[in-house]
Amino acid sequence: MCGIIAFVGKEDGRKFVLEGLKKLDYRGYDSWGIAGVNNDELWHYKTTGLVKTELIGKESHIIIGHTRWCTHGKVTKENAHPHVSNDEKIAAVHNGIIDNYLELKEMLEKEGYKFYSDTDTEVIPNLISYYTNKNPEKNFIEGFKQTIKQLKGSFAIAALHEKTLAFARVNSPLLIGVAEGEIYIASDAAPFLEKTNKAVFLNEGDWGYYEKGNMYLFDKNEKPIEAKTEEIHWQYNEQGKNGYSHFMLKEIYEQVNTIVNAAAQPNIQNAKDEIKKFSEILLVGSGTSYNACLAGASFLSKKNIKAIPVLASEYQLHVPFFDKEKIMIIVSQSGETADLIEVVNEAKNAGMKIIGIINVPGSTLWRKSDILLGMNAGQEIGVASTKAYTSTLTIFSLLAGEKIDETELSKYTNEKIKEWHEQAKELIQKIKKDLFVIGKEEALSYAMETALKVKEISYIRAEGLAAGELKHGTLALIEEDVPVISIATKETRQDLINNALEIKSRGGFIIGIDSKTHPCYDYFISCKYPILSIIPGQLLAYELAISKGYNPDKPRNLAKSVTVK
Ligand code: G6P
Repeated sequence: MCGIIAFVGKEDGRKFVLEGLKKLDYRGYDSWGIAGVNNDELWHYKTTGLVKTELIGKESHIIIGHTRWCTHGKVTKENAHPHVSNDEKIAAVHNGIIDNYLELKEMLEKEGYKFYSDTDTEVIPNLISYYTNKNPEKNFIEGFKQTIKQLKGSFAIAALHEKTLAFARVNSPLLIGVAEGEIYIASDAAPFLEKTNKAVFLNEGDWGYYEKGNMYLFDKNEKPIEAKTEEIHWQYNEQGKNGYSHFMLKEIYEQVNTIVNAAAQPNIQNAKDEIKKFSEILLVGSGTSYNACLAGASFLSKKNIKAIPVLASEYQLHVPFFDKEKIMIIVSQSGETADLIEVVNEAKNAGMKIIGIINVPGSTLWRKSDILLGMNAGQEIGVASTKAYTSTLTIFSLLAGEKIDETELSKYTNEKIKEWHEQAKELIQKIKKDLFVIGKEEALSYAMETALKVKEISYIRAEGLAAGELKHGTLALIEEDVPVISIATKETRQDLINNALEIKSRGGFIIGIDSKTHPCYDYFISCKYPILSIIPGQLLAYELAISKGYNPDKPRNLAKSVTVK
């Protein structure tokens, strides 16, 4: 989703900001822009489409940039950020959603302000300008402070005026990279890690400004706070696609190693001991991470540990039962998913402990977790999550006390992945319009995740469902040649085969992912470790996207890091 980058330093910051915007582009965006100050004069540039790194504007030592993923208003140049105040003195970029922007806009319009975009963001520079002009000293920081007090919703903001850069964070990530004589404000560390791995993480409600070589930080009660720097140990993906045609393909193949990395993490025993103290575990996530929770719940329940999967966006049903007797395990690749952050805040209010299975170190959810189980998967750039899913399954297996031989799993993945890839290339001929994927118990997770991958990047309607539910509705859609992937595990094999036979007798084309073949399979994909049975589906989704000419790394309408609700 939207990305913010800002620079203050002795050098011209345009190159850094433009390259920084490119480094943020994995989050997903549709338009972009930058604004800087030259001789106290504000200039700005914005446009739709992909970021270009050729220098634009004028030399500037203070500069802000933004990639926009539209929420309020279509993809147009006018709606792109930065937005500039009517007097053209203040420019602002914003991530998140201002819930009360209509009210504020109305108030400003009555004061004579004009608006040129459909965005919620445009109220920000104008409100700062309004409050700046209202105070006797015409002080920009005073105007900024009054503005953030008025805003409701979620926001990370960077605003500039002459030689001052102001910033604030409420329910949307923002951190400050600190280097000799330079600071960088960004929505994640990717754009500045090449310069420094030292960063100040802002907490909810923190705000501040940088002026004449000094940084001033305040908490939400305007109490000055110290800028505590922390080191970020995280490699952003500088080596690019490593010979693969897309990041997604590279990340699928990386699973040979990431499974091993996930298993090699120190906190498992600690988390297992903690879990034992509670009567129930809630497993919460969104998208792929929720699908991983479905498998986790199955692994844990089989070991008599009561585990309930919860969709982050549907957590409200569970709130009345949030209490200290339960513990919550959250799963998030980015560590920034807004739906999940809201659940965690509620759970913490109810006194619940949080175990976080998170990939991005230093992210909001990483910092909110009481016990951390790092996925250790390295940066995931493809919008459709792949390696984070198998890393999470590995961690859940370990939490459930399974003895997994990760070296053997990795060796097996390495042996099979090319074969699965070749099979995916063959199978795309069979999948034209609809696809169904069935599974049971933990393989329901694999079925849902396979369908999700296909939907996300190939735009083919795909449904993952519990095999036993077919006869309660979906069987009506089965006719000659409709493709159905059936994912079997040792315990569920017989049931799955019975369901597959029901489909086959109605003309369906059965693709079996199983440890051994069966006459009912029209096409067989052999996989002896069920937690790897998503990989053929990831490759199938990838090849379907390629065959239709779509870019699998950047599916339409979707974003990697969903920081708004
Ligand atoms: C977005 C991404 C999905 C991801 C989901 C949850 O929708 O496009 O790939 O599964 O967010 O993200 P998280 O970072 O919390 O795992």
